[in-house]
Amino acid sequence: MPSTNISVGNDMSATFMTPTGLFISFEGIDGAGKSTHIAVLAQAFEAQGRAVTLSREPGGTPLAEKLRTLVLHDAMDAMTEALLVFAARRDHLQQLIAPALARAEVVLCDRFTDATFAYQGSGRGFDLSTLQYLEQLVQTVQGPEGDFILQPDLTLWFDLAPLVAAQRLADTRLPDRFESQPVDFFTRVRAGYLQRFEQQPQRFARIDADQPLQAVWQSVLQAVRQRGWLA
Ligand code: TYD
Repeated sequence: MPSTNISVGNDMSATFMTPTGLFISFEGIDGAGKSTHIAVLAQAFEAQGRAVTLSREPGGTPLAEKLRTLVLHDAMDAMTEALLVFAARRDHLQQLIAPALARAEVVLCDRFTDATFAYQGSGRGFDLSTLQYLEQLVQTVQGPEGDFILQPDLTLWFDLAPLVAAQRLADTRLPDRFESQPVDFFTRVRAGYLQRFEQQPQRFARIDADQPLQAVWQSVLQAVRQRGWLA
């Protein structure tokens, strides 16, 4: 199996061998129902003998989980929020994602950078060009053919109307700082996801999340099978 050297940023201690790892992220507004499908997709990969690393953002490492608690529960301005989610992402990428990809594992991640563009960018109105700069700074890795920005191989975007999502979330649990936002906020977040989808359509699969669970699962399976990653 061919292998390549990859290192995160300028930190040469983080040089990894990456043969055939697979990085899949799951996105959508709160209440879109992605969590169930992450677990089932993990089982599907494991059934075919692949090692799977399950993770989430913000979070995934002890440090990033501490930052998650702050971001989800403490009041802060949009820039602080953006810097904290990217700080968490940097640690997550270095400590967990890149090493797992280097072991040729399948990394299934509940949210990644598209969420920052959707929530902090479109939702909160934070400057998109600054987010682009941070994305480049935090996610640039060195490969055999030079530097590139590490992105998921596939992003499954669970899309549905904010009102439907809000109805699903109602009565389920105590809302965090994002879940307690008005429907207008999620209308902007959804538009943010659409913008990312239109910018990089080849990386995305848009899943119609306003269907029965089994139908949503079939759409997920189809997106992954189409790419030849599951039989
Ligand atoms: P979520 O992924 O929905 O987890 P849970 O199912 O436990 O509620 O919650 C994470 C929240 O963090 C979600 O509301 C979106 C928000 N978020 C951002 O605002 N920016 C980011 O970059 C990320 C990764 C998440």
